Amino acid sequence: MDRVGIIGYGHMGSMLVNGFLSSGVLGIDEIMVASKRQESMDACAAAWPGIGIARTNRELARQCRLIIITVRPQETRGVLNEIASVMDGDEHVVSLAAGISLEDLEGLFSGSVTRVVPTATSAVGQGTTLVCHGRQVGMLDALRAEGLFSSIGNVALVDEVNLPAATLLSSCGPGLLAAIIEELAGATARASGLEAGRALALTTEMAAATAAYLRETGKTPGDLVEEVATGGGVTEAGVQRLRERLPGVFDGTVAAMLERYGTVGK
Ligand SMILES: NC(=O)c1ccc[n+]([C@@H]2O[C@H](COP(=O)([O-])OP(=O)(O)OC[C@H]3O[C@@H](n4cnc5c(N)ncnc54)[C@H](OP(=O)(O)O)[C@@H]3O)[C@@H](O)[C@H]2O)c1
Repeated sequence: MDRVGIIGYGHMGSMLVNGFLSSGVLGIDEIMVASKRQESMDACAAAWPGIGIARTNRELARQCRLIIITVRPQETRGVLNEIASVMDGDEHVVSLAAGISLEDLEGLFSGSVTRVVPTATSAVGQGTTLVCHGRQVGMLDALRAEGLFSSIGNVALVDEVNLPAATLLSSCGPGLLAAIIEELAGATARASGLEAGRALALTTEMAAATAAYLRETGKTPGDLVEEVATGGGVTEAGVQRLRERLPGVFDGTVAAMLERYGTVGK
């Protein structure tokens, strides 16, 4: 049987199962899930009646050629070691683990390996999944994996050397932007008396509209600043202040994140 196996039913595992089944890219009999705790497997079976649930990771690995491992980075080596003995080398393993290189993964079993960096925004069909294939991945396997992930958003092929920086933007980015939205809304509410929930709703809608405007017009952020920040106006006062302070804040933010990335999964 050639089902797609998903090991781990946490945030990412459940998001992928929901996305693949809701989009119709996979049917209910084309997917199989294994997770550590019985409660997680019960939750999966309740959400998707009829879905294949494997009692163990090995049982899943025996029945699936494409195996997507969605456990935490520190658990990924253990899971691969566990299933390696029942695999015949023809499998294609997709690892979501940050910080575990293709070379490390290829050393753990004899099949082909792809690294994928998902993004939480795929839950609403938006955002970019990063894909980095190992040298042993054949064209059909590569296309199959890319097709699956393109059912839940955009797919970008990335060289492994660029994966940390791209991850920071496409996968960590939603968390960064959410924090910025929260701070802008909070500061406005504190300074003005505008109700906090209202401020947050206005800011969230503004962020989505700004991204849509840039994407649809093809204008750069600089173009938009010029359009909105008229000389001597309110926006200009804000932009000026941000431009004095933000470069230092973001240089420090990126440096801290890249440093942490280097320690994940070690
Ligand atoms: N969250 C994000 O936005 C994001 C973005 C990019 C990449 N990632 C990557 O995606 C991976 C998963 O992240 P997550 O946020 O989904 O983590 P998570 O919510 O903690 O889910 C991990 C799941 O792995 C399962 N698990 C642990 N050990 C297992 C084992 N030995 N066998 C089978 N299942 C096992 C756990 O299952 P039980 O519930 O059954 O215990 C848990 O539900 C990580 O490698 C992370 O780096 C996440």
